[in-house]
Amino acid sequence: MRLFKHITKLQAAIAEQRAAGNRTGFVPTMGALHEGHIALIERAVAENDYVVCSIFVNPTQFNDATDLVKYPRTINADLAKLYAANCSAIFIPTVAEIYPENASPTPDIDFGSLTEVLEGAYRSGHFDGVVQVVHRLLDIVRPDHLYMGQKDYQQQAIIRYMLEQLSSKIQLVTCETVREKDGLAMSSRNMRLTAAQRAIAPSIHATLTKVAQQMGQDSIQDLEQWGKEQLTQKGFVVDYFSIVDGKTLLPIETFDATDSVVAATAAYLGDIRLIDNLILK
Ligand code: PAF
Repeated sequence: MRLFKHITKLQAAIAEQRAAGNRTGFVPTMGALHEGHIALIERAVAENDYVVCSIFVNPTQFNDATDLVKYPRTINADLAKLYAANCSAIFIPTVAEIYPENASPTPDIDFGSLTEVLEGAYRSGHFDGVVQVVHRLLDIVRPDHLYMGQKDYQQQAIIRYMLEQLSSKIQLVTCETVREKDGLAMSSRNMRLTAAQRAIAPSIHATLTKVAQQMGQDSIQDLEQWGKEQLTQKGFVVDYFSIVDGKTLLPIETFDATDSVVAATAAYLGDIRLIDNLILK
C-alpha cells in the first residue's frame, strides 16, 4: 500500500497502472473509516486491479463550522484498516493541493431540485461543496469505477447525475448501507453519540423498516407524519422524514406514481445529525 500526499506522484502511479492495462477503482472518503467504507474498498478491490482511497475532510461541504472542527480524525486506525483491506494507494492531500489558486472551475451543472430538496433544504451549500470536491478528485484520479454508499442516497444520486451530464466514462457503483447488528447505519458521526443516544439511534432504521412494511396500506402523508412522530417521541429532533421518488427525489402522491421510491430521514440526537434511508421500491 502506497501513501501519496501529492497529485503528481499519485498520477504517475495511476498512469503506470493504466499503461499496464489495469483498471482503477476509487473510493473518496473523509476518513474516520468504518465497516461501511471498508465494504466499498473491498468491492473496489474485487472489481479492479488498483484501488485508490482518498482521505480528505473537505471544508467546502461543511455548512456548519462546528461540524467541521468536530469531524473525527483517526488517521492511524484508517491506514491500518485500508492496509488490511488490500487498498493499493491512499491519497491524503492538503487543502492547498485540492484547491490551488489556479484550479480549473467546477463545471456549471444545473442540478434542478436534486440539490435543493431533502439534505439540500437543510444544509445550504453542502452539495456545491460535495460536487466541487468529487469533481476535482475524479479529475485527479480518473478512475474506471467510483464507489459510493447508499447511506448518502442523495449524494450518490447527484454524483450520478453529474457524471451523466458530463458524459463521463466513469462508472458509479453504489453499495448497500452497512449496519450495526441493531440496524443503525454505520457513520463516522456515530462515535460521537453518548451511550444513551447510541441506545436510541437504531430507532431510525426500525422506523424506516416499519414504513416499508406499511407501504401501500397507509398513505404517503400518513406514513411521513407517523415516522416523524415516532422519532420525535424517542427524543430526536427531526429535520425531515420524507418518502420521495428515488430518481428525482421529489415528493410523490402515491406509491404507484413511480417505479422507484425511497424513504429518507435526517434527525438530531443532541448536536449529532444522523441520516438514513431505505429503498421502498
Ligand atoms: O461521503 C463523503 O464522505 C464525502 O461527502 C465525500 C464523497 C468523500 C466528498 O468529500
